[in-house]
Order: sequence, then C-alpha cells, then structure tokens
Amino acid sequence: MLCNYEGPEMDKIAILTRDCAGVNASIRSVVRTAFYHNMEVIGVLKGYDGLIDGELLPLNRRSVSGIINQGGSILKASRSKRFRNESGQKQAAQTIKENDIDGVIVIGGNGSLTGAHILATQYDIPVIGIPATIDNDINGVDLSIGSDTAVNVALDALDKIRDTATSLERIFVIEVMGRNSGYIALQVALAGGCEEVLFPEMDSNIENTCEEIQGSYNKGKVSWIVVVSEGKAKAQDIAAVITKNTGLETRVAVLGHIQRGGRPTVIDRILAARLGNYAVDVLRNGTTDQCVCLKNDLLTTIPLNVAIQPKYIDLNGQYKLIKILT
Ligand code: F6P
Repeated sequence: MLCNYEGPEMDKIAILTRDCAGVNASIRSVVRTAFYHNMEVIGVLKGYDGLIDGELLPLNRRSVSGIINQGGSILKASRSKRFRNESGQKQAAQTIKENDIDGVIVIGGNGSLTGAHILATQYDIPVIGIPATIDNDINGVDLSIGSDTAVNVALDALDKIRDTATSLERIFVIEVMGRNSGYIALQVALAGGCEEVLFPEMDSNIENTCEEIQGSYNKGKVSWIVVVSEGKAKAQDIAAVITKNTGLETRVAVLGHIQRGGRPTVIDRILAARLGNYAVDVLRNGTTDQCVCLKNDLLTTIPLNVAIQPKYIDLNGQYKLIKILT
C-alpha cells in the first residue's frame, strides 16, 4: 500500500546521492523528468553532510549532459556521522524547509535510505528512495543500481587472474567488496567458475576447503580460485591458512574500490533511467516514504522501512550450485 501525504505542489525537488556506477545516469533521469514536468531541481552536494550544511546546487537540463556513462556521483557523497544524531537531522530538515523544497529523492544504499525514511517519518518531508548499492542488499528489491557493474568489473578481473592461475598452476584468493553482503562474491564465483566462495552470511570452514584443495590436487587438479567477501575475512589470512595446511603456493588479489566505479553497464543505465523517471512520477502523485524498484520487470514501490530491513537471498542454493559445477 502506498503512503500518501497531503502536501504542497511538487514545484521544486532536491536530489541527494551516494556513489556507485549508475548513480549519474539516475540523476540525469530525475533531472530530465522533472524538467519535462516544469519542476525545479536542486542537487544536494556531499550527501547528508551537504544537506546539513546547506550545500545546494541548482541543476538544469545541461547540468546532466554527458554524465550517463560516468561512474561516481557528480553531486559527490558522504558517510555522514552528523546525520546519525537528532541535531544533524533537524538541521538537514531545516535546509529543506528554508529552501522551499517540496520533495526529496534519495539515491543510495541502506544508510541513505534509512536517512530518507527518517526525513519522511520524523520531519514530514515527502521523500522517495532509489536503490543504488553494489551490495544489492536492499530488501524487497531484485536489483539495485550499481550492482551489475560491480559484478562485471570483479568478473573481468577474475577472468584475467584465472589466466595466470591456470598457466602457473597456482591457487588464488580474490577478495571482493561486501562488508555484510556476499552478493558480489557469489555472483562472480558462479559466473567465473570458481572452486570456493566465502561470504558473511554463511558459516564456512577453511580447514575443509584446504582438505578439498589437497584432495583435488592429489587427483591432478592444478589451480584453484577462492573468492572471499571483505566482510568475511582478509584474502591474505585465507591464503596463509591454505599455504600452511596444503604447502601449495597461494597468491592474493584484493579488488577493492574499482568495483564501485567505472562505466555503468547497459543494465545499470536502463535501470537508472526507469527508476529515476518513476521516482519523480510517484513523488508528484503524492507518494512518500517509499523506495522505487522493479518486480518482474514492472515498476513498483515498497515502503522504505521494509527496504532497509535485512535482505533474504537464497545464498545456500547458489553456493550449492557453485560446488556442484566445480
Ligand atoms: O556499501 C557499499 C560498499 O562498497 C561495500 O561493498 C563496502 O563494504 C563498503 O561500501 C565500503 O565502504 P567505504 O567506501 O566507506 O570504505
């Protein structure tokens, strides 16, 4: 059910973002849709910190020219500590009211959408969220903007590393992003044909992995790739245990923030275009405290307080498939 508010006309809206590939394409979609409806658009610089400090930039159609293929966010981003406190939240809400902003579109992951929910429910500000995070961990949302690009970047790196792993008959441990989410690790492990994947949502026993490696080497298998999410363990530590237990030479690659940047894929650009456009439409229709998303390829909304809950995904099922296909 949509949560409707009885608010003023939507003449002037603000956009606030986090960063990942596809965020710029979604800013572009929001701005151009808003201009199509003769609305004014204000960019909030540096996320919630910028909202607290009143760092605002009026945007026009040309402000978003040439950004559809760029990573990051032209509006910049922050992990705002100040917005976690009531005083910061009050100041942020004050900025919105003082600048006659009728509604806000927040583009980001869990933290950003939690902030959006606070503005909507505690400060009575019409807010719509757009899910954008490489972790793809927004509850009720099939695909968040940025996650397809991140998986493709990680997979490209993994494919290259496999060339050396195979040629030199080595074990590699590849660390991917995901502090609390195994999404990237599982996707690249399956798509890259990896032998093992370790991720935060599942208990794993590295000693068992070592036994598997040893057993398969004894049968003639010459290379292994283990993918690990950064939130599960450090690749260096996993490699040290493997070498200690098997005596086999092990190398490490930590992919890091290259996964969050770069040119967005087709999937991310189209998702960004559709969700940005729809976010403006639902905000104009009087909807608030909701997150836009696709379900079975149809545009819909879910309440922000649902979106920010932990996401259930069938991680075990996918893990089993990786092991069957090894
Ligand atoms: O939430 C997105 C994400 O990129 C995670 O995958 C990662 O664990 C975290 O952010 C890294 O955060 P930061 O860039 O602040 O170090």
